[in-house]
Amino acid sequence: MDEATIAVFSGTGNAARAAGIVADRLRAAGLAVSTVDLAAGAALPEPSAGGLLVVCSSTLGFSPPSTVMRALRRAPRAAPGSRAAVICVCGATMGKTGLTGGWSGAASIAALAALGRRGYRAAGSVDVSYPENWTQASPPATGADRDAMLARGDAEAAAFGTLLASGQGTFLRRNPLTRSLGRFVGFVFRVLARRALARLFVADDACTGCGLCAAACPSGAITMRGGRPAWSTACSACNRCINLCPTAAIQTSTARLVLVLGFNAALMLAAPRVARATLAAVAGGSAWPGFGPASFALGLALYAALTVLQLGPLDALLRAAERSKPLRRLLTSGPTKRFPRYLAPGFSPATRTESPPGFPSDRRMSLRSRAR
Ligand SMILES: Cc1cc2nc3c(=O)[nH]c(=O)nc-3n(C[C@H](O)[C@H](O)[C@H](O)COP(=O)(O)O)c2cc1C
Repeated sequence: MDEATIAVFSGTGNAARAAGIVADRLRAAGLAVSTVDLAAGAALPEPSAGGLLVVCSSTLGFSPPSTVMRALRRAPRAAPGSRAAVICVCGATMGKTGLTGGWSGAASIAALAALGRRGYRAAGSVDVSYPENWTQASPPATGADRDAMLARGDAEAAAFGTLLASGQGTFLRRNPLTRSLGRFVGFVFRVLARRALARLFVADDACTGCGLCAAACPSGAITMRGGRPAWSTACSACNRCINLCPTAAIQTSTARLVLVLGFNAALMLAAPRVARATLAAVAGGSAWPGFGPASFALGLALYAALTVLQLGPLDALLRAAERSKPLRRLLTSGPTKRFPRYLAPGFSPATRTESPPGFPSDRRMSLRSRAR
């Protein structure tokens, strides 16, 4: 093993920090190390024979981000002896009893399985915990708590890098229950939850229309419409935009949250009833007996179809309502207005290789200097 590629996906800089530490360890052991930024839209390169691929990515909903899973599934086939390791960068929390590391669920298993299908042999997996960046839902750590989390993450990354450099590896072990549950939650997150979370983002009146969020979005999910950002269902929910915005204008909308939750609850209640009534009508009877596989399947299909409505037309309606100033104030208010933002120290994200629609290309050059 004399070559290594580190594929990084980092929303707010933690995974980039861990990747830098691991790269240093591998270089110190004499390996030629190159880095690819999956968050800037790069694809995985052709592997070299006997080379090592290290995927170092934030963990979102017990899963690698949807963007990362797509890149892994499309990875060029492994060369003879190619191996792959996965670093799941998690979110730590500070409680009354001290610092608790995050948990990646089955994220490493999903990533290694995807790479296994491309011919890679597993070389190791680890959880590395840095400050939590889910600013959409909770205030990030600050001050001494944040520093303690950064120090913990650095130490975990260094220990794993040293192991990899010595040709050894450790693996995250999951019992059958946590493995299956983790994979299920990860799958639901990638397919549905991240899209619903994207629906909660709004830009309030502090938005200057600079377009930094659109240019730096790792999933190319933000377009500028009428000088304001709009989130599509391509969002991986990495929370880079909310943390990167120079005027902290991006918020989680309470009104949208209530609407999305209310709509989902109503759907969940209505779908089985409508399914049973439909089946009864088709069968020509007055009532469909019980709740069996047929009504379950139809109920699920109805729920999925109406969820599409929630992800598209409902959002368009809300965006139209946001054009009116009083409604905008209502629709853009939420707890995140009071939250500090989080970026790992020194992190300045690369912009994607192609410009998002509606983004003025002459502004691209100034973006890196505007990122905090
Ligand atoms: C939507 C969302 C879901 C998350 N899910 C998890 C999770 O399942 N487990 C975990 O330990 N951390 C989770 N986190 C926290 C991030 O993985 C963590 O803060 C990570 O260090 C961020 O890395 P980055 O700065 O490279 O993006 C989540 C964060 C977000 C925004």
